[in-house]
Order: sequence, then structure tokens, then C-alpha cells
Amino acid sequence: MNILVINGSARAEGTTTALARSFMEGAQSRGAAADMIMLRDKNIGYCTNCLTCYAYEGEGVAPCSLKDDMDAVIAAMVQADGICFASPVHCGFVTALMTNFMDRLAWRAMRPAPPLGNCFNLESRVSDKVRALGSIATAGGMPLSLRRLCDEGTRWLKSNAPLELHGQWIGDMYAAADLERLPESERDWKRLYFLRKLSAPQFEEARQLGVRMVEALEAGNLKPDTLENSIPRGLRGIMKWYFTWKPLFHLAR
Ligand SMILES: Cc1cc2nc3c(=O)[nH]c(=O)nc-3n(C[C@H](O)[C@H](O)[C@H](O)COP(=O)(O)O)c2cc1C
Repeated sequence: MNILVINGSARAEGTTTALARSFMEGAQSRGAAADMIMLRDKNIGYCTNCLTCYAYEGEGVAPCSLKDDMDAVIAAMVQADGICFASPVHCGFVTALMTNFMDRLAWRAMRPAPPLGNCFNLESRVSDKVRALGSIATAGGMPLSLRRLCDEGTRWLKSNAPLELHGQWIGDMYAAADLERLPESERDWKRLYFLRKLSAPQFEEARQLGVRMVEALEAGNLKPDTLENSIPRGLRGIMKWYFTWKPLFHLAR
């Protein structure tokens, strides 16, 4: 079993990497192989919106007009059974390294699908298996109780990655600021990020996320978080009925 971390931190040895390593240890403790890709070390250009990938009608990962490290990273993701996205919170979101990466992944791994009723639909191009997915977000100032105000990135990853990678979201963590001491002066407040340290419970939470990902894969009953699966069964029935009869309502008017 292969577990992969996609790390969007700008720092090789920052808090995100430290927690990602704990996550990997958790996965390895359950017999999985774990690897980490540092996006900062890869040559990944900006998407040019040429739509080469979007227009691709063949099977498998769509081609890209840019020739860089993205091919190798996607190949590693396709091969992986579980993937964890790790990123610091920058200005309330994931880092630019991560958003650029997700831009480049989007239509290479996903395509428009036959509509759900009359509704927009998407499907993964790499649906050979259901991947287990999760994320780690690290923050400098916002405590866990205010995560909602600061961590839009996790929500965004959770809604995009499963569609692209044919995955089920297993879990995520947010490592809020834990300070080595309370700030005592105005200068301390101004330099709050430098007082930050990771706590033992945060390392343990990351480790447990790794364990949980492997256990979910071993259980063998993952279900992809497709758009269709995200609509409750009853509502799906109503949508189908509505869109079947809608043309008749129009004729009757
Ligand atoms: C440009 C920038 C923007 C940041 N924005 C936020 C933010 O909006 N909320 C927050 O809690 N921390 C913010 N931080 C702090 C980082 O999230 C925090 O230091 C993180 O742990 C860094 O991860 P790293 O050690 O892997 O680099 C920001 C840091 C930088 C450099």
C-alpha cells in the first residue's frame, strides 16, 4: 500500500513538514510505504488555460501543453492508494504552491461527465481505484476555535480532490497556534509566529490520521465522493423525476 504526501509548504523543515512526517510514521506503523513530494522543489509552471487537458477525449490522465515536473507528480498520485495534502494557511487559504498545483491537476485528472438530470457533473479520469484522501493545515495565529474564519483551504481541497482523484475524504487536521509561552509584551504580539511550537497532541493527531488512512484502505469499502454520491438518495430521485418531466411542463404552458 502506498501513501503519498503532497506538501505545499515553502519551508523544507517547517511545521507542515514536521506534521507530515508524523502522518507518514502513522501510515508506516501500519505497514504502508509512505513518500512525500515537496512542491517547492519541483518545477511546476502556471496553468495557461490552453484547455489541452480539458478537451482531451481519450482514456487516462489528460496531456498538458507544459512540459515540466507535473507529469511525474501526477504519475505518483495515480499510483498512490492514499494521498494527504499538507499546507500552511497563507492569508486564510492554502499556499500559492498548492493552488498552482491544483490548477495544473484539475482537468488532467477530471473531466465533465454526462449530466446528473440536467445538472453539471464531473468525473475522475483516474477511476481505476478509490483513493483515501486527507489533509493537514498548519496555522500561525488563529486558534482552533476560530478555524472556520481562517481555513477555507481545507474545505476547498475536500471538495476538489475527491472528484479529481476518485477518492473518499478520510479526515483532516488543523494545527492551530500553540505558543511556547503567552505573549508578554507588544513586541511578543508583533512576533507571535516566532513563539509558535507544535504540541505533542498535534503530532499525535497527525500520526493518527496516517493510521486512519491505512485502516480505511484496509477495510476495503471506500466510496468515492463523486457529485452524484454527495446528493442524498431521496433528492436524487426527485431531481431525476423533475428533469424527466420538466419538458412536459414547458409544453403544457
Ligand atoms: C504570507 C503568510 C500568510 C499567512 N497567513 C496566515 C493566516 O491567514 N492565518 C494564520 O493563522 N497563519 C498565517 N500564516 C502563518 C503560517 O500559517 C504558519 O506560520 C505556518 O505554520 C507555516 O508553515 P511552515 O512552517 O510549514 O512554513 C501566514 C504566513 C505567511 C508567511
